[in-house]
Amino acid sequence: MNLKTKYLGLELKNPIIIGASNLVTDIDMLKKLEEAGAAAIVYKSLFEEQIHLENFMLEEEMTGYDERHAEMTSLFPKGIYEAGPEEFLMHFKEAKKALNIPLIASLNAVQFDTWNEYAKKFEDAGADALELNLYSNPKDFELEGRAILNEEFDIIEGVKKTVNIPVSVKLSPFYTNPLYTFNEMDKKSVDGFVLFNKLFQPDINVHTQEMFFPYNLSSEFDSRLPLRYIGLIYGELKADICASRGIFTGDDAIKMILAGANAVQVVSTVYKHGPEQITKILEDMEIWMANNEYKSPDDFRGNLSRKNIDDPFAYRRAQYVDILMKSNEIFKKYPMK
Ligand SMILES: Cc1cc2nc3c(=O)[nH]c(=O)nc-3n(C[C@H](O)[C@H](O)[C@H](O)COP(=O)(O)O)c2cc1C
Repeated sequence: MNLKTKYLGLELKNPIIIGASNLVTDIDMLKKLEEAGAAAIVYKSLFEEQIHLENFMLEEEMTGYDERHAEMTSLFPKGIYEAGPEEFLMHFKEAKKALNIPLIASLNAVQFDTWNEYAKKFEDAGADALELNLYSNPKDFELEGRAILNEEFDIIEGVKKTVNIPVSVKLSPFYTNPLYTFNEMDKKSVDGFVLFNKLFQPDINVHTQEMFFPYNLSSEFDSRLPLRYIGLIYGELKADICASRGIFTGDDAIKMILAGANAVQVVSTVYKHGPEQITKILEDMEIWMANNEYKSPDDFRGNLSRKNIDDPFAYRRAQYVDILMKSNEIFKKYPMK
């Protein structure tokens, strides 16, 4: 069975990519993931906070990043977070050397110059592509959405001018009109969209009355939002599409390709089931393809996108209205006592 796919100009042996996480900072784990069949790896993001770690005392002078900071530190394996950018790049190069599959770097900066400077450093370190982790979590009442958008467009334009490797953007779904955002980014020649990022939201412990930042793995329903947006944009934009969030099984990966994805990223399923889950996903995809007489993912990619679907209402408001009108059906499933 041919599971080959093209993503960001890279020839991947199959559509399964390991998304950025703490798993991928360990060389033994990286090798296990490769052996299990992963087609590419996105390395852990390098954050602006790490870059400035060497320059000033983090706690006192990171006021511009305070909200991000709490989230980022809670997401970092200790050694790496404290490592600083040079050591991080060294770990990245070691990972690149250890792998035969493509290694995609991930960057999450704040300042315009940092985006460009570190994009170049990752290119020099041998990254096969670069994922811009555009993690915007606004907390300023005065800042208009347009200003955030313009900044993101500028970042893409700057990085695209700075490096020659392919550049993707990992986005949150929280734009007034995500389709406008994707379209404008597409005009800036971004090479791929990773839909969507998962924002790490704080929780409150009612016993201690303190905030905390739990490690939240995804649930299966998290895949619905990317599934819908991928179906909406397939065939409309130049950039490739990579699905991310809530992909646990072969069926989940197949759904994303039917909607129009070139590739999918997985993280939570590896945390839950181990690297061998990649082998299982690939086997299940092969069985499904054989049963449906598809020879390659190209044969069914986008078949259920807005562009190709027979039912003209599937992606429209009418469908939403229809579901809500039928909402009494929920009582049949969950009868009230
Ligand atoms: C422990 C952990 C660390 C993560 N670190 C990063 C990161 O550094 N950069 C990034 O873009 N996403 C990071 N993510 C988010 C994942 O790449 C992914 O987008 C998210 O988990 C949704 O995919 P999933 O449903 O397959 O888990 C992290 C996720 C987890 C669970």
